[in-house]
Amino acid sequence: LLITLSIIKADTGGFVGHSAVHPDMMAAARHAMDRAVRSELLIDGHVASCGDDVSLIMTHRYGADSQLIHSFAWDTFQTTTGVARELGLYGAGQDLLSDAFSGNLRGMGPGYAELEFDERPSEPVVCFLADKTEPGAWNYPLYKMFADPFNTAGLVIDAKMHAGFVFEVYDLFEEKWICFDCPAELYDMLMYIGAPARYVVHGVRSKTLGETAAATSTQRLSLIAGRYVGKDDPVMIVRAQSGLPALGEVLEPFAFPFTVGGCMRGSHHAPFMPVSVGHAHPARFDGPPRVVALGFQIHDGRLVGPRDLFADPSFDEARHQANLAMDYLRRHGPFEPHRLPLEDLEYTTMPQIQARIADRWTPLPSPPVPATAGRPASAGAAKS
Ligand code: 13P
Ligand code: 13P
Ligand code: MG
Ligand code: MG
Ligand code: MG
Ligand code: MG
Repeated sequence: LLITLSIIKADTGGFVGHSAVHPDMMAAARHAMDRAVRSELLIDGHVASCGDDVSLIMTHRYGADSQLIHSFAWDTFQTTTGVARELGLYGAGQDLLSDAFSGNLRGMGPGYAELEFDERPSEPVVCFLADKTEPGAWNYPLYKMFADPFNTAGLVIDAKMHAGFVFEVYDLFEEKWICFDCPAELYDMLMYIGAPARYVVHGVRSKTLGETAAATSTQRLSLIAGRYVGKDDPVMIVRAQSGLPALGEVLEPFAFPFTVGGCMRGSHHAPFMPVSVGHAHPARFDGPPRVVALGFQIHDGRLVGPRDLFADPSFDEARHQANLAMDYLRRHGPFEPHRLPLEDLEYTTMPQIQARIADRWTPLPSPPVPATAGRPASAGAAKS
């Protein structure tokens, strides 16, 4: 049975500020979803949120990039935007960058991760939803899940995983992509995906099964809009078990609250905190960035679930460490590495400041003072 699992998400207004989605918006989205299931556009659907972003989790038979599915999501986001406007919520319609729908959502603002697959007799999947960060946030956990034997025991002891996985990586600046065959090309790949503001893992495929195991949303709103329009707040689908990482191997990377770009004004490094759905409301300094994990068993296309997978005390220590890391980073205030480097800042007054004070910058004396002036020559420098 070939089915498609699509997560399509957008921020269509925040309650309060950028911290959450209003219950009336969730109700409007659920109403639309129920109608789409009854009309048989969708096999099944679930509405979820993380922070101020609404996610439509849907199963259907139309494949990825389907006009029918994307236009249903677009219409639903118009509806939730209408609710947000009525209530005067913050940033109503924030992620809807275009006025009219034309074919699919590419370049229009909403993010989406879609995976078409032949449903296995038992099909466990995890839908990850994040707020206050960017798509590169998935690079580290995907590397851990599919390439690090210290995270994923199956890479060593499961015959169907031992051959490794292929990672599809996008360069979001130059709009091109490449595949890395891992473990053979691990070191090459890390050179790129270690720079997650630019290089983003789009998908992962099992070499043994030939099946796609993971898909992420890889849109970058600021690159589309050319101005600050909030962070992308990405989503990700990961299939688990039977030749793919076990559920616990899929979740294990989040036991370490690694830092991601995002948080306040999309312009800070802050720890990525795994939380239950009830705690997915970033408020402190618009953070720390949050991730929720919704587990489903898909059966005949039906979404059996969700289970709120980070509602588990074994992630308490990660949350505690995230709070400590947040305190540590916050004390840097406007200094790097809390604030993002100039080239990655999403929000900047630099051009205005630069224009205002440009004529006050005075060239240093020329020829430049030698860097060693006033210092005794070192032993190394004395050799000739
Ligand atoms: P159970 O015996 O609880 O089914 O566990 C099986 C397993 O492989 C856990 O990773
Ligand atoms: P969102 O992308 O979640 O709307 O965040 C925007 C922001 O500026 C937070 O400070
Ligand atoms: Mg917002
Ligand atoms: Mg958001
Ligand atoms: Mg956003
Ligand atoms: Mg069992």
